[in-house]
Amino acid sequence: MSQVVSYELHGNIGVISVNNPPVNALAQVVREGILNAVKQAQGDASEAIVLRCEGRTFIAGADITEFGKPPMAPALPDVLTEIENSSKPVIAAIHGTALGGGFEVSLACHYRCAVASAKVGLPEVNLGLLPGAGGTQRVPRVAGVKAALDMITSGRPIAAGKAKDMGLIDEVVAGDDLQAAAIAYANELVKAGAPLKRIRDITIDPASIEPGFFETARKNLAKRARGQIAPDRIVSCIEAAVKLPMDEGLQRERELFSELVKSPESAAMRHIFFAERQAAKIKDLPKDTPLRAINKVAIIGGGTMGGGIAMCFANVDIPVVMVEINDEALERGLGIVRKNYSITVKKGKMSEAQMESRLELISGTTDYADIADVDLVIEAVFENLDLKKEIFTKLDATCKQGAILATNTSYQDVDAIANATSRPQDVLGLHFFSPANVMKLLEVVRGAKTADDVLATSMAIGKKIGKICALSRVCYGFIGNRMLTGYGREAQMLLLDGCTPTQVDSTLEGFGMAMGPLAMGDLAGLDVGYKARQARTDLPDDPKLFRMGTVLVEMDRLGQKTGAGYYKYDPETRARLADPEVEALIKEEAAKLGIEQREISEEEILQRCFYPLINEGALILEEGIAQRPSDIDVVYVYGYAFPAAKGGPMFYADQIGLKNVYDKICEFRDRYGEDYWQPAPLLKELAEKGSSFAEWAAEQG
Ligand code: 3HC
Ligand code: NAI
Repeated sequence: MSQVVSYELHGNIGVISVNNPPVNALAQVVREGILNAVKQAQGDASEAIVLRCEGRTFIAGADITEFGKPPMAPALPDVLTEIENSSKPVIAAIHGTALGGGFEVSLACHYRCAVASAKVGLPEVNLGLLPGAGGTQRVPRVAGVKAALDMITSGRPIAAGKAKDMGLIDEVVAGDDLQAAAIAYANELVKAGAPLKRIRDITIDPASIEPGFFETARKNLAKRARGQIAPDRIVSCIEAAVKLPMDEGLQRERELFSELVKSPESAAMRHIFFAERQAAKIKDLPKDTPLRAINKVAIIGGGTMGGGIAMCFANVDIPVVMVEINDEALERGLGIVRKNYSITVKKGKMSEAQMESRLELISGTTDYADIADVDLVIEAVFENLDLKKEIFTKLDATCKQGAILATNTSYQDVDAIANATSRPQDVLGLHFFSPANVMKLLEVVRGAKTADDVLATSMAIGKKIGKICALSRVCYGFIGNRMLTGYGREAQMLLLDGCTPTQVDSTLEGFGMAMGPLAMGDLAGLDVGYKARQARTDLPDDPKLFRMGTVLVEMDRLGQKTGAGYYKYDPETRARLADPEVEALIKEEAAKLGIEQREISEEEILQRCFYPLINEGALILEEGIAQRPSDIDVVYVYGYAFPAAKGGPMFYADQIGLKNVYDKICEFRDRYGEDYWQPAPLLKELAEKGSSFAEWAAEQG
């Protein structure tokens, strides 16, 4: 028997223990070990078998690193058949998270018990996959078709108590000793002569499914699919669970799982899974870097960002003090927080009592003396360097030694802000994305003097508040916003060259972006970009540059907030509508600039918008602003809604081939000028070598 799986008798109960740190993934040795243990138990004195795990969690799924490699026996479905066919009841004992193949193992068992803190789920959709070991067939049989569809297409884990209500778990056990509780539960089942409950024996009455249910589900999912094919295939599998006998349903699931494992979408999403975890690691920081305790936080500025950031901390039970300039601004800031929580309560996603307890954690003040004892300060006041420096000088004078002082600035120089204090080692950027309580990305900006433990603590606290962290060095706009300049520039240039706003945005949305750049400008307010551009001295003096954004702002068409920008907005529904006035205006401006408009292909729209991202990404890598290409992908997927199914801009570039990207950039340089199109030396080098960003990253270590 393999070392990672052990089997021993505890009286009349056989106990199989899996021990494959860190998350007990179902690597080949684990599958083999479980198979052999179940076989062994058939011939010994055991009357029931408990399947449990060592370490922090029950099996968290198939071993994702094995996907795309030649399959190794035994296949997971064969292990599950052995469990299901056991002549003695097999009881899964769940703690931590039983996910994907791990939860599917437990569904093949005859009974499932779990500690109250456990969660179960089928998150395969997040990897561009579907549950490939019976999950799509067994969950609808126990929990119903609707619940199964929701669980499997959302990938959201479900807490043990709710899972019991849904029939997915039989028993929630009390106490800390799960093994003992599971053995006791197994003994009860033996004593009661409990049957070998096999989920496969349940049939679903097709008449219980309302006509058109699956078609509607497909349509709804297609709307938010953003280039993903897995949700559609999941619907097909659940439909098979209703219409076909178990074995044929399993066969269908297997076929569709095999299709997805080979798909470029899944490869891209698996890349993002590992990229996200890699991004949390700082290359030159020892793993055992000590952490500072963060028990109380202050937020300076309770505007759009400050309120959302305060919520992030209250949501994990960390008290927050919001600092504002006067009582009125403070009231407004706290009011917005309350309003945001109320929306969540209205949606049924939080109870009134939970809202109140979170609000109790957020207090307000206009006096800096009240934040002398906090462990972390996050400044989110207006985007003005002098104001920020002034605030940091004040924080330096007020806050206790050892407090971490962070700025949420989008563009300002973090080092200049740090140098306004006598403790630049305690200062860094913590750049949240709007809305801060929702968006997953946190750019952690390392100043020239930021101390190691400040960085390590920031990464840890970012994870604690549910963010995905990526490290950036200091530069204008850090990783994400710096790359955005060329993307926005080309979106606007394309208008002058002959596109309508709808053409540009729909092409990018068709690619999978959550929202096209022009519609995004309208949402954020066109004046934001306008003001930011005015503060820049490094942009070429060219009337074509950001022309339409400028013209619209000067006409007071600021976007959604004024009801019109690149589009007009229906005052009732806020639906975006193409505006013939803008389309005529674009033509006029192009004529004034002597630009001959032409038909532009979708291919060119994608290249003109995305290749500047890739090129700037390459510069960011060679300058050491980002640690790795995959960190840039994480920034774009989680901060800018780049489709995960395309893997982020740098992964996407590798798929196109860097030589193709480089050649096209050179062609654009010859056509549109060197001011805008100048291939990054790293891109040139890798293109000429026939290499990729992934290979370059591997060489860097
Ligand atoms: N396979 C391989 N490695 C895995 C893994 C998996 N299923 N799950 C986690 N890991 C690795 C991570 O890459 C990480 O490695 P690192 O330390 O080298 O970076 C390490 O385990 C720890 O992972 P986390 O940092 O994510 O640990 P957390 O404690 O934050 O989270 C978790 C634990 C909730 C289990 C999280 O790891 C997770 O969500 N894992 C993936 C679960 C999943 O997607 N399962 C479905 C797999 S597909 C499948 O089962 C197909 C089946 O239907 C046939
Ligand atoms: P905002 O204008 O909504 O809020 C700023 C708040 O700071 C106001 O409520 C103001 O009263 C308060 N304030 C000003 N001076 C202060 C002082 N001396 N002490 C205490 N409070 C003070 O601005 P927003 O959008 O929240 O931006 C804040 C920061 O976050 C800026 O640096 C911005 O660049 C950055 N940021 C903004 C994003 C966005 O999408 N809005 C995204 C990421 C970062």
